[in-house]
Amino acid sequence: MNVREAIESRRSIKKFNGQPVTKEQVVEIVQAGTWAPNHGTREPWRLVGAAGGKMDRIVDAIKEVAFPKWREMSGEELDVALAKFRLPGAVLFVVVPEDARQKERLEDFGAVSAMIQNMQLAAWEMGIGSCWKTPPFIDHPKFRSTLGIKPGERIISMLQLGHFDEAPKAKERKPAEEIVTFFE
Ligand SMILES: Cc1cc2nc3c(=O)[nH]c(=O)nc-3n(C[C@H](O)[C@H](O)[C@H](O)COP(=O)(O)O)c2cc1C
Repeated sequence: MNVREAIESRRSIKKFNGQPVTKEQVVEIVQAGTWAPNHGTREPWRLVGAAGGKMDRIVDAIKEVAFPKWREMSGEELDVALAKFRLPGAVLFVVVPEDARQKERLEDFGAVSAMIQNMQLAAWEMGIGSCWKTPPFIDHPKFRSTLGIKPGERIISMLQLGHFDEAPKAKERKPAEEIVTFFE
């Protein structure tokens, strides 16, 4: 797969089939991520997550903070409600420092965003789908503390990784001519 093919064919995968993604695969994906451009080679990223389908601790942490209604559920009903967190084969919470200086903070957010895109493309080439998600619980103090997120750090993405049976259709993009202004 060449770069352009990967960029254009990658889709956000929201329905995973439960097959695990191994720690080794996740490490390979993260390593590809680290080649993202980043100012001053600050490499302003770290990641916390789970692989090999070992989602229990992460799903428990989500269960505690996400929806009060889950506390009244049990058995199959609860399993169904939690399936979208259990079915990815791996998950990464991508963490960025929140630099007190605005310029550096924006640069770091930009660099980590590029890193996430790199990971999504590398995973895609390996036949592994992904979705960058930003559910509200990523900022929940209890969830942050369970994951060991320090003051001055922010979770920028819950990146779900996993195998899938079908990729969704692409959402059309605007033609480039519409969004570029050339000065002559
Ligand atoms: C910053 C960011 C946050 C996102 N948050 C969510 C989310 O919370 N839930 C979700 O289903 N998709 C989320 N997405 C994925 C987008 O919905 C997806 O990229 C978009 O629909 C385009 O689809 P494609 O990636 O297949 O081209 C997010 C993407 C980005 C870049």
